[in-house]
Amino acid sequence: MLCISVKEFLFWKKKQLSKGGDHRSLAFLLDCVGGISTSDLKSISINPVGELHLKKSLEFLESIWDNHLQKSCPIQYLCGITFWRDLKIKVTNKVLIPRPETELIVDIVFNIYRKKSEKLFFAELGTGSGAISIALALAYPFSDLVATDIDQDALEIATRNYTNSSKQSNLKFYCGNWWSPLESFKGKIDLAISNPPYIPKDIYEKLPKEVKNFEPKVALLGGKDGLKHINEIIQRAPLFLKEKGWLILENHFDQAEKVKQLLIKNKFTSIEIVKDLSGIGRFTIGRYK
Ligand SMILES: C[S@@+](CC[C@H](N)C(=O)[O-])C[C@H]1O[C@@H](n2cnc3c(N)ncnc32)[C@H](O)[C@@H]1O
Repeated sequence: MLCISVKEFLFWKKKQLSKGGDHRSLAFLLDCVGGISTSDLKSISINPVGELHLKKSLEFLESIWDNHLQKSCPIQYLCGITFWRDLKIKVTNKVLIPRPETELIVDIVFNIYRKKSEKLFFAELGTGSGAISIALALAYPFSDLVATDIDQDALEIATRNYTNSSKQSNLKFYCGNWWSPLESFKGKIDLAISNPPYIPKDIYEKLPKEVKNFEPKVALLGGKDGLKHINEIIQRAPLFLKEKGWLILENHFDQAEKVKQLLIKNKFTSIEIVKDLSGIGRFTIGRYK
């Protein structure tokens, strides 16, 4: 631990923000790497006296901050972690940084299966950092989960995140294309979930550089119209879901109606578009017959 005066620290903080970036990202860096929590920051802004203990030197923190500003690299990748629901998730540029709007997908499951003691079988397709599956595995300790991803590097991170967050063993990871690694679970799945790559090609090309230059293309690009993967997942879902099994999909801000039509075409019922906290139809859900 390094000890510095609050005065020196506040001077340093002001200098960093004068170079660019936002308060939230700097607070994230200070919390994750510097060991200064948001509540520490609040209390020193009210009473700017005394000394502070830092886990890393100001020079080291400044080098990360400069990297963030100069290359537009997301602060979560530079710190190697992010926070999602109540989980601390390791992230590298092999996985998408799980988004706050995706947190709601877990609440959709909670609304469908209110009894956490039920023994269910869940699948997640395209697990990335593992955030969704880990949250569900923890919330439904008597259920079993399987999660797939096309990228073995992502699965290694998801596995580490799972072992860091839980002592349970009700979640297993499989590498492969969407449903393909789950052949032995055909007709056994109560609920499948996916936040697949759904960005249309033209929009992908214009994404901000902090996304396009750092987050995996395979996690974002959904083909020409963005619906390539959603379509594939919906078409094969009936083979894997139990009768009346649920499929929950996240989609781009303007895709919900099209996803609904794809579900109807593939004989799903009880179809619903669920809005995110900004009022966008972000999730489309349905049951197979
Ligand atoms: C939008 S990210 C979602 C990651 C994570 N579930 C989340 O919500 O933060 C999509 C994930 O799908 C994976 N993926 C892309 N194509 C795939 C495919 N054909 N089969 C399986 N997974 C795939 C990517 O590697 C990526 O991890």
